[in-house]
Amino acid sequence: MSDKPKIFLTRELPPQTMELLQDQSILTMNHEDRYLTKAEIMDGICGVDGLLCLLTDSIDDEILAANPALKVVANFAVGFNNIDVEAATARKIPVTNTPGVLTETTADMAFALLLDAARRVAEGDRFVRTRAWQGWGPLQFLGSDVSHATLGLVGLGRIGKSMIPRARGFSMKVLYWNRTRLSPSEEASLQVTYCELDELLQQSDFVSIHVAQNAETRHLLGPREFSLMKPEALLVNTARGPIVDEKAMVTALQSGQIAGAALDVYEQEPLLEPELYEMDNVVVAPHLGSGTIGTRTKMGNMAAENCLAACRGQRPPNLVNPQAYD
Ligand code: GLV
Repeated sequence: MSDKPKIFLTRELPPQTMELLQDQSILTMNHEDRYLTKAEIMDGICGVDGLLCLLTDSIDDEILAANPALKVVANFAVGFNNIDVEAATARKIPVTNTPGVLTETTADMAFALLLDAARRVAEGDRFVRTRAWQGWGPLQFLGSDVSHATLGLVGLGRIGKSMIPRARGFSMKVLYWNRTRLSPSEEASLQVTYCELDELLQQSDFVSIHVAQNAETRHLLGPREFSLMKPEALLVNTARGPIVDEKAMVTALQSGQIAGAALDVYEQEPLLEPELYEMDNVVVAPHLGSGTIGTRTKMGNMAAENCLAACRGQRPPNLVNPQAYD
């Protein structure tokens, strides 16, 4: 009998992580390139020690009930809004995430989207491919300046903070709003200015979202917030879709309340509000924030190590619910 822990994985991860899991555990997994259904996940976790899942897997109490002996739910993501953490805690099941390793990569993506929307890169690309371009023109596809503009960071956790040096590279003025305010000396050394959310929305040329999704941040940006923004402002969202009221955003874009949006996340992924597919002032990416080979490998290894540790009875390094051990 092997003393290796039994792990169920809901989708294939990068090769190095697969090797690690195959070496250190008795692995069962979904080999297909698709999401599993709830019933399939319930079936998959029967008799295993650990579940290694993705942000696209919704792990609720009903799923957890399928295996009362489950020792861990290890998420392959920093966000864990897809897991009912309260239910897991009540069942004394540790939940883990992958913080830190995707910070810079996600900030890079937010900046890529910001630049793309400001300088109409994707829109220009689409146009050139129609073969309708007749040559350079003084009024063609004019965008807005990023350099010296004001960037408003909604949330100043790891990823939000990582936007600051990027913004500084473009000589931007940086405002931030966060649940907890930095100390005056931190604000001075980072060269950022704290604002209430309303004021940040009123003053920013670019608003980039970096808060976690939870009950307090759902629809943090809705009709009232869009009405405060500058008509030339661009919204960037690489955090989670439900933080923005997507229907209200469409209305704000249609009415010219805001100039554009650059989005990596949506309320009902993989579906978008239908109008978004057609809008030229919107850049849409398929949730690629952490999507580099290096970062996905680090996330995979971290999720695997979290899962293996908890299966072996150790406290996993990236625990989100320490109360599970009370
Ligand atoms: C990606 O969206 C993550 O939360 O890791």
